[in-house]
Amino acid sequence: MIIHLIAAARPNFMKIAPLYHALKKEDWAKPIIVHTGQHYDLNMSDAFFKDLELPEPDIHLGIGSGSHAEQTGKVMIAYEKVLMEHRPDLVIVVGDVNSTMACTLSASKISYNPSNPINSSNSSNPTNPTNPINPINPINPINPNNPERPLIAHLEAGLRSFDRTMPEEINRIVTDSLVDILWTPSPDGDENLLREGISKENIECVGNIMIDSLEMLRNKIEEQAVFKEFDVNKNAYGLITLHRPSNVDSIEVLSSICDVFINISEKLPLIFPVHPRTRKNLENFGLINVLEKAKSIFLVEPINYIRFMNLVFNCRLAITDSGGIQEETTYLGIPCLTMRPNTERPITVDQGTNTLCTIDNLEAFVETIITERDTKLSVPELWDGHTAERIVQSIKTYMS
Ligand code: UD1
Repeated sequence: MIIHLIAAARPNFMKIAPLYHALKKEDWAKPIIVHTGQHYDLNMSDAFFKDLELPEPDIHLGIGSGSHAEQTGKVMIAYEKVLMEHRPDLVIVVGDVNSTMACTLSASKISYNPSNPINSSNSSNPTNPTNPINPINPINPINPNNPERPLIAHLEAGLRSFDRTMPEEINRIVTDSLVDILWTPSPDGDENLLREGISKENIECVGNIMIDSLEMLRNKIEEQAVFKEFDVNKNAYGLITLHRPSNVDSIEVLSSICDVFINISEKLPLIFPVHPRTRKNLENFGLINVLEKAKSIFLVEPINYIRFMNLVFNCRLAITDSGGIQEETTYLGIPCLTMRPNTERPITVDQGTNTLCTIDNLEAFVETIITERDTKLSVPELWDGHTAERIVQSIKTYMS
């Protein structure tokens, strides 16, 4: 079975890695990594492949940055060609980035049958139709609904912030409405999908794949002491990540956030690996110097997975707008302050260590955490490091 694993941006890499390694062990599966190139910097992509012990991507679409429509359109066009040439049996998309939705759209509308009128436009014909990589598969026997196209599965299905101003929410809704198999990380995902009319048989709660990556690399993560490179002590610093357009694209918002960070840093030193989008805006808005001048704010380039997770393991608290960090801190029992009005991962608030906050109340939350030593620890069910195994089993049922 030829299985495409679609990887595009930084948070995708720790989702495909455990699955790639699990599928590699199966003699019936040929996992192929397709990198769309949405993230392309060494420290946003290659460093993660290395840490997660992934080989170079088999296919690289080299799409790069652009507006939402440009990025989505370019991925769709490039991936359509790859689909026609490789004819995968199964396409697995992960997370909620533009490439997740784009590859889902291409795979849903493709037909491997050269006589299907859908292929009448030259642009969708295979580059080499007489020699596809998967020649024994002009039709796809494992997709009973539509044997002329691959089966499509979404890993991390069902998450909803109910905030359609977030591009990721649009990507989630479109992706989940089209795919054949929906693997959710937690029961709230199942509930959201059922409410949207998705058939129960297509949904399976498999747990949180990010925890598989964390457990796979736990020893290497714990061997490090990255905080020692800064003027801070173990459990006595805050770790910041920030990249959502709603936080970093407006000068007013970003400058208020910087002011709050400076105030917080007087009580708790802050390590801040800066995302490329955020760095660009800090520079354009003339705010980078303001942060650099603060004695206890340590600005650094984006950090590779193992070293970054080591900073998470040893921090007093995290301040973030990332999705993944809300989950990792819940798993580790570390307080997390999420600078967003909503989250598509409510289980991290209900059961875990996550608190949603605003520019106005962030500082007060930090003070409470610094003075209260106890953190509640309740790990959601199936966040256990065995999600990839459950997915392999799930795929096997489609073959039987
Ligand atoms: C994307 C995802 C977001 C995810 C985030 C993780 C979408 C809509 N957004 O947002 O869901 O949480 O990745 O980081 O898919 N850039 C570089 N080098 C890189 C990558 C990006 O310099 O390797 C720059 C680009 O020039 C661009 C900016 O960063 O201007 C934003 O990149 P983009 O991929 O468009 O979105 P992210 O903000 O990273």
